[in-house]
Amino acid sequence: MKIEAKKISMSNLPTPLEYLPALSKELGIELYIKRDDLTGLAMGGNKMRKLEYLAAEAVEQGATMLLTAGGAQTNHGRQTAGVAAKLGMKCVIACVDNYPGEISANILLDRLMGAEVVFQAPTGEPGQADKLIRMLIEKYEAQGEKVYYIPFGGSNEAGMPGYYECACELDAQAKEMGIGDATLISAVGSIGTYMGLWCGLRNEGSDLKLTGIAILPFGEDRDARLMEYFGQVKEKFGLECEASREDFHIETGYVRGGYNLPNADVRQAVYLMARKEAIILDPCYTGKAFAGLLDMIREGKIKQGEKVIFLHSGGHPGINTPHHRVEFERELMDGITIL
Ligand SMILES: Cc1ncc(COP(=O)(O)O)c(C=O)c1O
Repeated sequence: MKIEAKKISMSNLPTPLEYLPALSKELGIELYIKRDDLTGLAMGGNKMRKLEYLAAEAVEQGATMLLTAGGAQTNHGRQTAGVAAKLGMKCVIACVDNYPGEISANILLDRLMGAEVVFQAPTGEPGQADKLIRMLIEKYEAQGEKVYYIPFGGSNEAGMPGYYECACELDAQAKEMGIGDATLISAVGSIGTYMGLWCGLRNEGSDLKLTGIAILPFGEDRDARLMEYFGQVKEKFGLECEASREDFHIETGYVRGGYNLPNADVRQAVYLMARKEAIILDPCYTGKAFAGLLDMIREGKIKQGEKVIFLHSGGHPGINTPHHRVEFERELMDGITIL
């Protein structure tokens, strides 16, 4: 690795890179999967890689509490709650989101691991999340806590090395399997996973290509964030690679109505992966990204015979979030016989 950063190892790395024979045959491509759903702690997922680096900074600063923010079903919140529990710290998860009238699978797990969860309905006021976070930091510091704040998705400079490291790991695995020039496909939310992968691949001279699939609307603000984020990590880690907006390939046309909404195509993609390869995707991120991948094959953006690596970034507890689970149950009832 050409960059240096401290981390606290808490997850099962390296994660496997596996060939998917049945799906490859079905889809006419050479499909592989990077199993970052198997990172381990707190049911695993992509955020563990970033959190290992963020946790090192938190410990160095003497933190007693991790405070982070996300939506009502944040996987990042769950993994942060797990890291805090493991390190003997307190944890607070702030959701600038309407309380959905249900406890999402992840919030149930957050509470199980002892994290506190705070909801504040969106007001549309600019800077609302920052204000809420400042208020919470002040509140807990007044109570004697030393708070370490982790932004949405752990997607800042300090978390970036997690997926830079994954890019190096994956490049070595792909070369060993003879697919060093494959296309890597990853879901894109708060951008940290994609940015870490992009920087790792390009800065280390890998031949792997990278395509992101946005799982929420990707407007001008996110375009701007991409370039701002790249500038920040380039400066912090002294990256040699250069980038302009066109160098970041992110498909933005497979959002399917919006963030975390139940969607029939996404459920079909989840069934396909489960029934052909016994791997469980989630309805918010990986199922949507995989549905996008299937569209890209149909549309000829991914060619027959092409080598593709799908990043499984975790999130599977989400199938048990009530508003998704009710749809799965409705569709799956037909295979349950009551004698
Ligand atoms: C399961 C899963 N996959 C992918 C992502 C997207 O990663 P990022 O936010 O780094 O873009 C997330 C983010 O929350 C996630 O929980």
